Amino acid sequence: MPLMKTVDFVHALLADHVTAGVRVIDATMGNGHDTLQLARLVGDAGHVYAFDIQREALVATAARLAGEHLQARATLIHDSHARMLDYVSEPVSAIVFNLGYLPGADKAHATQTASTLAAVRSALTLLAPGGLLLIAVYWGHAAGVSEKAVQEPFVVQLSPDQYRVLRYEFISRAIHAHYLLAIERLTR
Ligand SMILES: C[S@@+](CC[C@H](N)C(=O)[O-])C[C@H]1O[C@@H](n2cnc3c(N)ncnc32)[C@H](O)[C@@H]1O
Repeated sequence: MPLMKTVDFVHALLADHVTAGVRVIDATMGNGHDTLQLARLVGDAGHVYAFDIQREALVATAARLAGEHLQARATLIHDSHARMLDYVSEPVSAIVFNLGYLPGADKAHATQTASTLAAVRSALTLLAPGGLLLIAVYWGHAAGVSEKAVQEPFVVQLSPDQYRVLRYEFISRAIHAHYLLAIERLTR
């Protein structure tokens, strides 16, 4: 098969890991594309918790979900993902981070190294056995370079007895601006 674009690879991984009835988290809701995909996958018995610090993200995502009558499958939370443990206490099957800022929006709202790392640490405590944590890292901007420098050493040192860690990146481009870190919690 052809090498999948990163976004398609993310969707394929989620389609495989997120089954009807499970709980999942979209840590960076933005315009709600990932929240919508997750809401489709979890079914009526499952649930999506989605976070963003921008009110506009909640408005856009609510409208996107309403377009498919899926509002009841998601809780949209206007707060930092760094505080996700204040809102979610049950095990989750997938957690998605799409780092950076919304194209066309104010870069002042880009994700930041310290809060992202705190959120990733919290996310790992919520991840169910067999669960998947995805972090799309965009480092074509200043804050992204810093996030890359912190995220990578953190995920690399995770115990191989507990996690499988994958880096998915196309290296054939002149400018390498984004890649995916995928962390799977082992079942044993
Ligand atoms: C690259 S965009 C996400 C795009 C999104 N996946 C979509 O489908 O449109 C990153 C988002 O993270 C949000 N963000 C930044 N810092 C955050 C934080 N501490 N907690 C939660 N969201 C945050 C931004 O407001 C922005 O909407």
